[in-house]
Amino acid sequence: MANLCVVGLQWGDEGKGKLVDVLSKEYDVVVRYQGGGNAGHTVVVDGRKYVLHLVPSGILRPGCVCVIGNGVVVDPATLVEEIDGLKAQGVRVEENLLISDRAHMVLPYHKIIDKLADTEDGKPRIGTTGRGIGPCYSDKVSRQGIRIGELLDKAEFGKRLREALVQKNRVLTALYGAEPLAFEPLYNEFCGYADRLRPMIRDTVDVLNTYADQGKSILFEGAQAALLDIDYGTYPYATSSNTTTGGVATGAGLPPKSVGHVIGVAKAYTTRVGEGPFPTELQDDLGARLREHGGEFGATTGRPRRCGWFDAVSVRHSTRVCGADSIALTKLDVLGGMGRIRVCVAYRHGSEILKRFPSSCAVLRSVEPVYEEFEGWEEDISQARSVKTLPKAAKDYIRAIEERVGLPVSSIGVGSGREEIIRLPL
Ligand code: GDP
Ligand code: IMO
Ligand code: MG
Repeated sequence: MANLCVVGLQWGDEGKGKLVDVLSKEYDVVVRYQGGGNAGHTVVVDGRKYVLHLVPSGILRPGCVCVIGNGVVVDPATLVEEIDGLKAQGVRVEENLLISDRAHMVLPYHKIIDKLADTEDGKPRIGTTGRGIGPCYSDKVSRQGIRIGELLDKAEFGKRLREALVQKNRVLTALYGAEPLAFEPLYNEFCGYADRLRPMIRDTVDVLNTYADQGKSILFEGAQAALLDIDYGTYPYATSSNTTTGGVATGAGLPPKSVGHVIGVAKAYTTRVGEGPFPTELQDDLGARLREHGGEFGATTGRPRRCGWFDAVSVRHSTRVCGADSIALTKLDVLGGMGRIRVCVAYRHGSEILKRFPSSCAVLRSVEPVYEEFEGWEEDISQARSVKTLPKAAKDYIRAIEERVGLPVSSIGVGSGREEIIRLPL
């Protein structure tokens, strides 16, 4: 079977985890290739909820090999906690999980600096998840990072950590007036993680290329989404990795041609967490109702998600930069009972009509959405398992999205459960 990439088309939380869980039944391997503990992927199986941050969402399928690729930034503390939490829920993790020795490590100073640097006059600047993502990727790029593989040689790791602390403690104390971190407890803590993670740490570049040579099918699981991409997203209100399909090759160590079919995941409306422009945001009762109907609270930080109408302008941009072949439309059930529904098809900017997503946040902040309006529906569609059984208004809405975005819809989410999905032949 050809490989597949599942990637978010909006500002994250589109339901990528659920889709990867559904599809992973048909794949040998699931790979995370970027991001880190900032991701929160929720999977609901038989009424039981699993929230994954670093572990790929194929882990609930026994026999599916899950790989944390070299492009991911791994916080060993979060990972060990996540593995233990999954094990307590009866999931076999260690047998099926591999971690790249090249993946960079999130250390406590990254998390502390992330929070301090993101606060300006007591208010968030970007509104990061505080998981140390930006500072860790910064260290990677400036060649100051420490990789997971380095944990395996404790003496060498100790040397590298000691060196790093000299510089980080200077930043913490002189720049932020914070407390310095002591070497000994940090070193001992991380030696504990080394012992726990050692059996899973591999040269996953070699492992994945060998799997590819053997004809094994690989599903790439994107975290965050195209509009949070460091290059194509709403910079600086973005995350620090290439969340788009371009990140697959560098983040997994497989050639770009390995990506295969690309499914772009989009909610039937839009949400965003943190700061940054959001042209279709609803700051009224409707927005509050979407939040309530859709349970729109962050899986990682618990923050309320900002909610608004579907934005075909930004999603078109995302599908282009990701090379998406189809759209997985999620949370259509949430729109039931919302009254008439709107889709943004262009932006008004002064006297101009923009059909393309602008690169400037200043422009995005000042645009007004141009909407098309559609009939809503009252019915609960969570039991629907075929398009035929959907209300006419829901079918018309799906068709409108296909037309406005310019891609076919390959699945429709009608609830959070694994079986609450309508899959369409492509
Ligand atoms: P991800 O980060 O893209 O994996 O998405 P999250 O898990 O952060 O957020 C999506 C939320 O919507 C989760 O709580 C899912 O359980 C839920 N969800 C996913 N698909 C659907 C759907 O089609 N309908 C409903 N009602 N909930 C869904
Ligand atoms: P999943 O994979 C939604 C947002 C943060 C913030 C910005 C930068 O669950 O879709 P960071 O901590 O990455 O430096 O924060 O990106 N953000 C997400 N929003 N879903 C996510 O992941 C996100 N990961 C980061 O809220 O605005
Ligand atoms: Mg999420």
